[in-house]
Amino acid sequence: RKKKLIDEIYKVNKLAAMYFYNKLFSEEGRQALAYIKKRGLTESTIKKFGLGYSPSQGDSLLKFLKEKGYSEDFLVKAGLLSKKNNSYYDRFRNRIMFPIIDVKGNVIGFGGRSIADTLPKYLNTPETEVFKKRKTLFAINFAKKSQQDKFIIVEGYMDAISLYQAGIDYVVASLGTALTLDQAKLIKKYKKNVIIAYDSDEAGINATLRGLDILDELNLNIKVLSIPQGKDPDEFIKKEGVEVFTQLIEKADSLIEYKSKIYKKNLNMDSPQDRILYIKKIARDIAKISDEVKKEVYISVAAKIAQIPEDAVRTEISRFVNSKI
Ligand code: CTP
Ligand code: MN
Ligand code: MN
Ligand code: MN
Ligand code: MN
Repeated sequence: RKKKLIDEIYKVNKLAAMYFYNKLFSEEGRQALAYIKKRGLTESTIKKFGLGYSPSQGDSLLKFLKEKGYSEDFLVKAGLLSKKNNSYYDRFRNRIMFPIIDVKGNVIGFGGRSIADTLPKYLNTPETEVFKKRKTLFAINFAKKSQQDKFIIVEGYMDAISLYQAGIDYVVASLGTALTLDQAKLIKKYKKNVIIAYDSDEAGINATLRGLDILDELNLNIKVLSIPQGKDPDEFIKKEGVEVFTQLIEKADSLIEYKSKIYKKNLNMDSPQDRILYIKKIARDIAKISDEVKKEVYISVAAKIAQIPEDAVRTEISRFVNSKI
């Protein structure tokens, strides 16, 4: 019974995706299409990702799907309609629609970006029988097929699509800032190398630090790419081009390099006290690593950064290990 509901939701989502897509290329979608093109996406990219437009009336998808025989209550379960005061209306109105597709090719949900000043900027499908945001990676359907032995994780829809359009076909988006354990496990199913490329604002940096720990616990090989000048990958690649972005990928930091940089930002490494503080912080991170080879590499990196003997780092690490902090 549940399987049947799930299959019905996949089916109606596909119908809705086609509906939104057709609307984007109709008169109603003129502004929306202009918006997407202004953001640099080509028609072939729009097609590839099946982007669409949800009209603003509030009952257009409702009418379309009711005519196809779907009940309103079912459409609420699918996350396509909302119900208020006993009346039903389209959940997505006047938004650019991003279909979210799972590894098997099912449309499991949508993200909708406001093109007016309506908040929230992005509205997603609510949790449904098939859409679990915490287990979802946008563009995984494409990235899993990449010849490259890695994933690059970005925050948002537009980051993923822009990178893909530029030829980086191994990109996935974690749909907001915090990477979850379920998303990390999904990554691990396919590839063991990951590059985190979150926005370089404060939220992005904090999310990077949390995401790093989650990925590291699963023993993935992690790198962090720092986007300069407070931008996100979409803005950066549009401004600087794919070659410069590829250089950033090549220069990406290891976990300990990245954490070191973040710690050092708030410390004065000319002061002995601050250097000790740095060693304590980084030693706590290194102490958590179970892989002995990895640990040795990190010790040498950390020692070099603080310009101290490796043994000093080791001593500090053994303290953490012994006190089990
Ligand atoms: N997000 C969301 N709901 C919001 C804001 C953000 O689900 N209210 C998710 C979206 O997947 C979004 C991602 O978090 O793509 C990153 O958010 P943000 O950096 O704020 O947006 P951008 O992706 O940069 O959006 P845009 O470039 O379209 O302005
Ligand atoms: Mn952001
Ligand atoms: Mn860095
Ligand atoms: Mn952006
Ligand atoms: Mn962003």
